[in-house]
Amino acid sequence: MSTPKRYLITSALPYANGLKHIGHLAGAYIPADIYVRYLRAQKREVVFVCGSDEHGTAIPIQAMKEGTTPQAIIDKYHQAMKEDFSDLDISFDIYHRTSSQLHHETAQEFFNLLNNGGQLETKETEQFYDEEAKAFLADRYIKGTCPNCGSDRAFGDQCENCGRTLSPDELINPVSTLSGSQPVKKKTTHWYLPLGQHEEFLRKWIIEEHGKDWRPTVVGQCKSWIEGGLQSRAVTRDLDWGVKVPVPEGEGKVLYVWFDAPIGYISATKQWAIDNNKDWRPYWEDKDTKLVHFIGKDNIVFHCIIFPIMLKLHGNILPENVPANEFLNLEGDKMSTSRNWKLDMRDYILDFVKKENGGGQCVDMLRYYLTQIAPETKDSEFTWKGFQDAVNSELVAIFGNFVNRSLVLMHKLCGGKVPKWHEDIADDNDRSLINDIKNTKINLETALEEYHFRDGLFQVIDLARKGNQYLQKKEPWILAKKLEQDPECQKQIDNCMHLCLQLSANLAIYINPYLPNTAKKMLYMLKVVEKMLDWENGGKLNLLSVGYSLREPQLLFRKIEDEEISFQIEKLKNGSSKPLTEKIMEEKQPEPAKATIQYEDFAKLELRAATVVACEKVAKADKLLKLEVDLGIEKRTIVSGIALHYTAEEMVGKQVVVVTNLAPRKMKGIESQGMILTAEDHDGKLRLLRPEEMVAPGSSIS
Ligand code: MF3
Ligand code: ZN
Repeated sequence: MSTPKRYLITSALPYANGLKHIGHLAGAYIPADIYVRYLRAQKREVVFVCGSDEHGTAIPIQAMKEGTTPQAIIDKYHQAMKEDFSDLDISFDIYHRTSSQLHHETAQEFFNLLNNGGQLETKETEQFYDEEAKAFLADRYIKGTCPNCGSDRAFGDQCENCGRTLSPDELINPVSTLSGSQPVKKKTTHWYLPLGQHEEFLRKWIIEEHGKDWRPTVVGQCKSWIEGGLQSRAVTRDLDWGVKVPVPEGEGKVLYVWFDAPIGYISATKQWAIDNNKDWRPYWEDKDTKLVHFIGKDNIVFHCIIFPIMLKLHGNILPENVPANEFLNLEGDKMSTSRNWKLDMRDYILDFVKKENGGGQCVDMLRYYLTQIAPETKDSEFTWKGFQDAVNSELVAIFGNFVNRSLVLMHKLCGGKVPKWHEDIADDNDRSLINDIKNTKINLETALEEYHFRDGLFQVIDLARKGNQYLQKKEPWILAKKLEQDPECQKQIDNCMHLCLQLSANLAIYINPYLPNTAKKMLYMLKVVEKMLDWENGGKLNLLSVGYSLREPQLLFRKIEDEEISFQIEKLKNGSSKPLTEKIMEEKQPEPAKATIQYEDFAKLELRAATVVACEKVAKADKLLKLEVDLGIEKRTIVSGIALHYTAEEMVGKQVVVVTNLAPRKMKGIESQGMILTAEDHDGKLRLLRPEEMVAPGSSIS
């Protein structure tokens, strides 16, 4: 395909029924974001759409669980997911929602066009009906005994105990979860999309046209669907939550969530066009648009079979590719919401990103590891140890180290300015590195265009590795020692540093789609404008002009400490040891009470408000901070175990409550002259106790 005129990139619309975990993030959002950032750096015309999937039975079921309304559920989770994506720098051009009026109209228009064109069939069938609740029962609303494993908690669509897919008819002793009564069979009419009629089209389009360029896992799944014989699929449901079926006979029915949700990509594009004063039509109608859907493997059939049939019938373009990812496991097990074995995006954001000044590096650390282990060809696994290794031995030790050494050495040996390049003394080492810089651009482009994001990232790190090897070979610090005897050495130092700096600038361009915060930080240190990150600058060796003075370097990444890892593993294990419902019940119980005391006992404590005037981490103790606090008449040193919850910088200026008459205690060789009060949340998180408003330091507390 020649360069398309425009790109429309979509990420699967997540269900607004709960927070999303890092498996979702690695599957459909980070890869799409990398691709989009790459296209933007190439100055291509691109729109990146996503939004919340707010229909389907998942929503009213979650509402029942939380004792609230479906509307409250979607409002809450739509907002939460939107924030989480933005905190992790997923750069959607629009994050829309399927509950919007515009979406309802778009989906209804779509249904009408297919229905009026005779593309849908209607069929009468018998379905389970709850006579007490006066409602047809979606598969999820029926519970019973699993015919496979005998578990009495199987649902009408699946048994969560043994994993078997079920139909409600297979359940032994089915009961309605709405009323607890035994459901009866009742006749109902629905609209069906006859997939079988489009088999030829699918065979041609998927297997002949894309059999080679789509991922083998995707083509494989499609093939087995097609070969298994395509059945007609109901596109309507008896439910009151969703997009109403827009014909009189459809009274009381809604569109099946999987019919309306992908149309959400279209309505999101429409809303984007309205907001930006653009025309949405070419994005869905002009053959010169390249449409790419990023999804997880459980969505393949909908994006490669059902939605394309709908698009074809409706006269739209088809996706050019559907790079679906396999699944991400966590610490040796499948991620699971019901067993609470997962890492929500929100957890990472709170424990890392929001904990630090400039959480950008934490965002990039996660983006890095999730790309490095992306389940592109088979299921893969997130482990905290793997995360730590990836950060410490690749980001810190290779990439960060190279950039830092280059800048530090340049400041030391070249007076903080970009040194000259002396072509006459260039040697094979120089030429080979120059080739690597240029080749990386080509290899990276190929990897990104073919959706091999892991491989692309490896190319970038490998280039930084080569930079380190180059420095090691050239040893400019040794050359500097020889300068007195041999002033000619300065030319060699110049060349080495010149090349390392140009390489650093190139690394910023190459890493930018993956780690945007890192690229920005590099721009700052190199004192260049954002325009330098344009893709066309990749491979150039004159990105930094000779004589230009650069800023002092800052570290690009910090190390991940062992304690952080063990803390997370503990948290995961504690959180999952009990079923979620039990945990919630437990959290409502206060701690067991201690024995009653008299006022006199309490009065023995001296509590005072104090202001933190200085604070630093205690060496070799990851949990401890050393604080200097002002108590009005005196200053004291206090050692407190809050370092995993507060940084030293953010403590300065805060007011705290101190127990001032506690006998002093030595911790790590430092005498702690008091104790700071904190509240401990159920997940082990500590929060400071402090006066509601600032009071004079030393104010007594009773
Ligand atoms: N909500 C679905 C899921 O989480 C994905 C919907 S993708 C769309 O599995 F195409 F339908 F929007
Ligand atoms: Zn079972």
